[in-house]
Amino acid sequence: PAQTVQMTVQAGDPKLQISKHIYGHFAEHLGRCIYGGFWADEDSKAPQQGRIRMDIVEALKKIKVPNLRWPGGCFADTYHWRDGVGPTAQRPKMLNMWWGNNLEDNSFGTHEFLELCNLLGTEPYLAANVGSGTVQEMAGWMEYLNSNDDTPLVLERRKNGHPEPYKVTWWGIGNESWGCGGNMTAEYYTDVYKRYATFAHNYPASPGLKKIVSGANGDDAHWTETCMKNIPLNQMWGLTLHQYTLPTGSWSGSKGKATGFGEDMYFSTLRNCLKMEAVVTKHAAIMDKYDKDKKVALLVDEWGVWTDVEPGTNPGFLYQQNSLRDALVAGTTLNIFNNHCDRVRGANLAQAVNVLQAVILTEKDKMLLTPTYHVFDLYQVHQDAQYLPLQFSSPDYAFGNEKIPALNASASKDAKGAVHISLVNLDPNKALKLETTLAGVSWKNVSGRILTSGKINDYNTFDKPNNVKLASFGGAKRRGDKLAVELPPKSVVMLELR
Ligand code: AHR
Repeated sequence: PAQTVQMTVQAGDPKLQISKHIYGHFAEHLGRCIYGGFWADEDSKAPQQGRIRMDIVEALKKIKVPNLRWPGGCFADTYHWRDGVGPTAQRPKMLNMWWGNNLEDNSFGTHEFLELCNLLGTEPYLAANVGSGTVQEMAGWMEYLNSNDDTPLVLERRKNGHPEPYKVTWWGIGNESWGCGGNMTAEYYTDVYKRYATFAHNYPASPGLKKIVSGANGDDAHWTETCMKNIPLNQMWGLTLHQYTLPTGSWSGSKGKATGFGEDMYFSTLRNCLKMEAVVTKHAAIMDKYDKDKKVALLVDEWGVWTDVEPGTNPGFLYQQNSLRDALVAGTTLNIFNNHCDRVRGANLAQAVNVLQAVILTEKDKMLLTPTYHVFDLYQVHQDAQYLPLQFSSPDYAFGNEKIPALNASASKDAKGAVHISLVNLDPNKALKLETTLAGVSWKNVSGRILTSGKINDYNTFDKPNNVKLASFGGAKRRGDKLAVELPPKSVVMLELR
């Protein structure tokens, strides 16, 4: 018989919020994320505004995208923004050297991206080119977008169809500067950062500039330590971290298949995804040393499952399917971020459409929602809600000689007083019984929704787009003043208590 997990939901500090920006997304000029994704092919019959695909926009609006990071990734440090403004026919073409060597025609540039953000109702998060650009180029981009004085760049923006400043406040200063962004040492990068940051002006027409430091790769403590030590706190609003989940755990050779895997790869993927807890804890502790008041946000602005590409597709396009397993990774990772919301105040899943752990896949004019999409749908209730700490001790999920905690969870209270508890059972074979006490929370009724499926590697196809979908959940009941839950194997559940 399943053992019963005792869980306590605590009232928590009313000031501690789960930032909505934890639920951010990422759109790079990579494979078919932009071209053939957000930006329809010229012969496409999909619903469009300009060439922006409105079926994608509508789907993303339903899960509330708080911020969208663009144009990269590695692409950002090769991108010259002036190539992507002005009349489309006159924009120069470039080779996308990082991703598949295809010809980039720059038809999707700054104005098109900001129109996309406007349609989505999302905060744009731009990554400036530090690796192969100049301070002048970045400063010019900021002036073009954010100033309202009659300078030549502002006149050019107005001529290009946008009289008002765009007020873009989120600015990443480089991307992976330890790797594709210039292969810099941490010491060198922090000097470069300070130079760029000096000329990142806060224009009166667009107040609130947020300067974001290109942060560590995985658990590289030295990078974070050096950034925190060398850069004055008032020169950085945020510091990033990139941490991907590889099923095999190795960057060389096979990373593991996106579908058709067995329980061994399922287990190792989840074990690797759980490393996010230790990685975030490690960087947060270093940040605490230099920033006791937690002023600087930790932004995990690239995360997700990275598998081998689908057979027959361009290896540089990073196109992969998305299964129930990936949804469990998403639910688990978002629970980790919620539980670290004192420091983690932003994150971006890599990537929104057709790349890595996408929430949307397209094939010509068709579109499907992946299992990961449904997790973002469930979890949107946590956005900007008050954080409620949980206490419980998880049973193990054992495979071979190893074990991981089967259960992970997070909770919040929204502005109307409804409490939401997101629960993930990673065990593919055993249900979990929970008995939950809610301290200082008044509630009468519980309802819920669940994401699960018959097999750990089930996924949605263009022929069967609803193979893995949300359903209502009847496994939670009020028993006395406690909440009793029976959590099915391999499932993500969101409970609502009112
Ligand atoms: O998301 C794909 C790539 O992964 C990004 O371009 C880069 O920043 C990271 O290495």
